[in-house]
Amino acid sequence: MACQTVDVFPALAKHKLVPVVVLDSACSAGPLADALIGGGLPVAEVTFRTDAAEASIRVMAERDGMIVGAGTVLTVEQAKRAVGAGASFIVSPGTNPPVVEYCVKEGIPITPGIATPTDIDLASGFGLDVLKFFPAEAYGGIKTLKALSAPYGHVRFIPTGGVSASNLLDYLALPCVHACGGSWMVDRKLVNAGEFAKVRSLVSQAVALAQQH
Ligand code: 3PG
Repeated sequence: MACQTVDVFPALAKHKLVPVVVLDSACSAGPLADALIGGGLPVAEVTFRTDAAEASIRVMAERDGMIVGAGTVLTVEQAKRAVGAGASFIVSPGTNPPVVEYCVKEGIPITPGIATPTDIDLASGFGLDVLKFFPAEAYGGIKTLKALSAPYGHVRFIPTGGVSASNLLDYLALPCVHACGGSWMVDRKLVNAGEFAKVRSLVSQAVALAQQH
């Protein structure tokens, strides 16, 4: 396992983007890491939606400079497997108390999903202040995020779900936005087709767009 000494949350804020990756085969993990690094975005949230997640994290985390997290973490067992494979942060779709409690206790950076004030209260109770707003567009997008950030001024959000090149800059313009998550630059079909030059190009475009902020 690569040594992960990176300070995750400042790194995510620096890159402004968290590519949400679904890998159907761990064979794609190396070329995808190369495409992300080559495109200027050495970050990946590898989702536990496929059986290839753990092996893929292991491959990607070995790449120098890659910041690899595990997404769609629904159980403590998955969190343990992810960290064992080299994940340096955990993302969960909701604020799942056993998963959050485990990560906080172990000092593993976690950004759990929230969509309501009650969710934010729950996550804040664990001492967390960088939270995934998920699914962002389905839950009202920017309008909801502005309303949520008014009473929770200490919280930084990573909106994910429906974020794309067409609305990225609108999200990044909000002071409460830490970074944005999205899959548009790591399209699952392109990855499965082995079209890594196209993926790299989409990654470069996303980076260039984010830098306009
Ligand atoms: C997901 O649910 O897959 C992630 O939140 C990414 O959503 P997106 O595909 O809309 O970017």
